Amino acid sequence: MTIQMEKVCKRFPQPAGKELSVLEEVDLSIGEGEFVIILGESGCGKSTLLNLMAGLLPLSEGEIRVNGRRINQPHPSRAMIFQQPSLLPWLNVEENIVFGCKLRGEHDDLTVRTAQLIEIMGLSGFEKVKPHELSLGMAQRVCLARAMIGHPQILLLDEPFASLDTITRSHLQEELIEFWMVEKFTAVFVTHDIDEAILMGTRVVLLGGRPRGILKTYEVNLNFPRDIASRGFFLLRSAILKKLRESFDGYQRR
Ligand SMILES: Nc1ncnc2c1ncn2[C@@H]1O[C@H](COP(=O)(O)OP(=O)(O)OP(=O)(O)O)[C@@H](O)[C@H]1O
Ligand SMILES: [Mg+2]
Repeated sequence: MTIQMEKVCKRFPQPAGKELSVLEEVDLSIGEGEFVIILGESGCGKSTLLNLMAGLLPLSEGEIRVNGRRINQPHPSRAMIFQQPSLLPWLNVEENIVFGCKLRGEHDDLTVRTAQLIEIMGLSGFEKVKPHELSLGMAQRVCLARAMIGHPQILLLDEPFASLDTITRSHLQEELIEFWMVEKFTAVFVTHDIDEAILMGTRVVLLGGRPRGILKTYEVNLNFPRDIASRGFFLLRSAILKKLRESFDGYQRR
């Protein structure tokens, strides 16, 4: 599935009739099967952009099309992983993972696939555990499994690994890339971590500036699995960091 954003603006109402402009005239076209990273500092509008793509927030101006059709509400073909784990507290791990599929009447090979995903996410032994007994990182892995089980055509991920330790994070980054290579979904992944962006993305979109929008995009022409110590990685990292610093210095002075 493809995603097209055209002149997308988002403003939030503020007290005393004022408005906060978060995104200004964002044009972004995402092709089938791309793994696009949205990279930017805290508060630059990354989650807002992703929520707009999910259809969870109304646009102030502009248009978002998925496979050419204008969207204005969520759809199961676009799975979302939120910045904070969002599990149903009265269901256990297994039940949370299959909840959406069961609701939509999709029962095919659910048991086998649930067991596989639980294993991949390192959740074996926790199948019957309720969310309040899980760590934040474990709960986020349940959310990932829940998203993957429905074979989404678009996966929207909002800093899904931010609360994980380095080893678990690196393991899940690899797993997610393997899933993506097999299932060939279109991914939009939000992060503020440059290394994570270059490790995973086929394209990195820098968000920021004043007014906020797309600063620059970078194609990542490096083979998977990527080597953080390679020259290509280092050069791209330096270029992105330089651009982010320039942008930050620019509006700090204003
Ligand atoms: N529902 C809302 N109502 C009012 N303002 C909002 C709302 N959601 C976000 N904002 C504002 O929009 C701006 C962008 O927020 P957003 O959550 O998109 O940033 P972000 O890039 O995801 O940041 P972080 O990396 O910290 O998650 C912030 O100034 C925030 O205060
Ligand atoms: Mg955010």
